[in-house]
Amino acid sequence: MDGESFSIGILTLSDKGARGEREDTSGARISEMVQPLGQVARYQVIPDDIETITLTLCRWTDEVGLDLILTTGGTGLTPRDLTPQATATILDYEIPGMAEAMRAASLQKTPHAMLSRALAGVRGRTLIVNLPGSPKAAKENLEVLMPALPHALAKLKGDPSDCAISDEPVTL
Ligand code: MTE
Repeated sequence: MDGESFSIGILTLSDKGARGEREDTSGARISEMVQPLGQVARYQVIPDDIETITLTLCRWTDEVGLDLILTTGGTGLTPRDLTPQATATILDYEIPGMAEAMRAASLQKTPHAMLSRALAGVRGRTLIVNLPGSPKAAKENLEVLMPALPHALAKLKGDPSDCAISDEPVTL
């Protein structure tokens, strides 16, 4: 069941991007990386505004029913970095291990990795993951998750199979 195709949304949070003042190279990078997982069914660049972020996430989960939403940007420390706060209000539950894994691996590359407050979690049957904003950081964080995503998404879609039986060796 892990060979399934999933519907994916990429949500870029950037005040400058939303005003058309900055090209969204992170969204493009993420889109390339998720090709093996399925189709990018929704893509949008919106401002760093809590209400707009929560509304879009709720629409993409509750109405569109996407399997996976990857946000990029707004996970840091400035007053306009609001993505984790917005995401926290709409998640049913967090998956701390995903965020921990991203930060642990990223710390091997830069001490600034500890500044990302990215969350991962589930709303309904949709997996939502925050990635940092730069194309390099988005790529480095997403590549940590890629080996576990097919199994995570299949489980959320209701794959009832025993994890131990489907536990094939995974390349990290
Ligand atoms: N993680 C990785 N792997 N590589 C990076 O270059 N940059 C960090 C961090 N995580 C980085 C990273 C930096 S500099 C910041 S400020 C935070 O992510 C938050 O980024 P954001 O505000 O663009 O979301």
